[in-house]
Amino acid sequence: MSNPQIKPQRICCIGAGYVGGPTMAVIAQKCPDIRVTVVDIDEQRIAAWNSDELPVYERGLDAVLETTRGKNLFFSTDVDAGIVAADIIFISVNTPTKTYGEGAGKAADLKFVELCARKIALISTGNKIIVEKSTIPVRTAEMIKRIMRENCSENVVQVLSNPEFLAEGSAIQDLHYPDRILIGGEETESGRQAVDTLASVYESWVPSEKIIKTNLWSSELSKLAANAFLAQRISSINALSALCEVTQANIDEVAQAIGRDRRIGPKFLKASVGFGGSCFQKDVLNLVYLCEHFGLPEVAAYWEQVIKMNDYQKRRFTKNLVKTLFNTVSGKKIAILGFAFKSGTNDTRETPAIQVCSDLLEEQGLVSVYDPGVKREQIESELNLVNANSNNLVAEDDPYSACAGSHAVVILTEWQEFKNLDYQRIFSLMEKPAFFFDGRNLLDFDAMRRIGFQIRGIGRV
Ligand code: NAD
Ligand code: UGA
Repeated sequence: MSNPQIKPQRICCIGAGYVGGPTMAVIAQKCPDIRVTVVDIDEQRIAAWNSDELPVYERGLDAVLETTRGKNLFFSTDVDAGIVAADIIFISVNTPTKTYGEGAGKAADLKFVELCARKIALISTGNKIIVEKSTIPVRTAEMIKRIMRENCSENVVQVLSNPEFLAEGSAIQDLHYPDRILIGGEETESGRQAVDTLASVYESWVPSEKIIKTNLWSSELSKLAANAFLAQRISSINALSALCEVTQANIDEVAQAIGRDRRIGPKFLKASVGFGGSCFQKDVLNLVYLCEHFGLPEVAAYWEQVIKMNDYQKRRFTKNLVKTLFNTVSGKKIAILGFAFKSGTNDTRETPAIQVCSDLLEEQGLVSVYDPGVKREQIESELNLVNANSNNLVAEDDPYSACAGSHAVVILTEWQEFKNLDYQRIFSLMEKPAFFFDGRNLLDFDAMRRIGFQIRGIGRV
């Protein structure tokens, strides 16, 4: 753009995933004068965004698309055209944990981000603002700037960090009413102008006092830090849940008592079978890797414990289950209610259900899964990837079929509809004793016991 203070006219987002799709849809909704194009190399995904069967399930997303798609919001596989036309290019591609070579199992794999940077450098003309929307290790902007500098000398490019804090299941609400918008940029005149240009987009609907402007590195690191703090709270409450189970304290009561302290606050203190999702584990591991890389082993070990505690919690859950079922689940049907990593989403990436089901299959259990938001094929393919015993696995379209003939029913996702199932009917369909394991402390335990269930939760009796 020749004058960076003018509101941008065209935005391109590379990556039409859980972040790129909803985020750009809301920008298009709130900025009708901006033409927003979301591009992706995945043809199926783009076709789905252009259809009625959206690739991402989020409450309220269809309503946003209704008013924007085909008007000022477009989904396309033409990555080059999207880049060339745009004033602002968001990079919103996946940044998974590296599975090979140096840093495998911890470092973020930045190959997709680098490919985007090289593509932009190769084909773009004129001034551009490149925005890191993906979650990346601190100092990634350095790499992007260097690729630009050394491959496209004619262009004037500014690189900004603008991490996304939306949570799945509440993405549209989070995007409409964010706690803050964080924009990091270079501490130069043109850097500040670029930050202001991006801020002007958000100012269409976000109060300016909620827009935080920082240097690049603070912004990049703040994203990893925010996820690490959130994950740490869950591991802390889950660690205490183990202590509750041997002392007859009740973790829900403990959480309420400590959460009343305004300095602690009540959110993110729900004990569970463990946290899942595509980001907490990868981002904490990324932070651990960075600390090791910068010669801070004690800091690395501190954050790594968050992940170790989460692994412990998932394994502990299945161990307790097997022990309660007279030390064996071999040949016994176990019904799993909920497979998504949380309610309100169809996302199953890193869901604790994978570990629990896989451990049960390992123990030769017959696992039957029902999830109201996840398709059967998706459940089966996730579990086939991690377990050879997949003949013992079935995904059902109906909760009652999943529970019929089972020795135990297990809740792994906190779908509200599980509160309203006919548990009298489920009890009558089950083998006796009818064991029930509530991995989210979702149900009324006294009511379940009155029906006749032998119910156990997390961190409570
Ligand atoms: P995703 O896997 O759902 O989507 C990423 C998309 O990028 C894919 O569709 C992929 O095909 C596309 N892509 C990869 N390389 C490409 C290339 N070279 N050109 C064009 N398209 C390409 O990922 P996501 O969940 O949307 O996450 C994206 C980033 O946002 C990650 O860094 C993640 O950590 C971060 N993040 C995610 C969430 C979340 O809730 N999922 C929230 C905040 C931040
Ligand atoms: C999380 C963060 O909340 C977002 O701010 C962030 O943008 C996002 O990661 C990301 O970077 O990807 P998300 O993973 O979508 O969002 O969902 P959360 O609500 O954070 O839940 C994560 C996991 O923790 C779920 O498995 C959930 O069930 C579990 N959880 C959450 C608990 O076990 N207890 C709690 O009290 C809260």
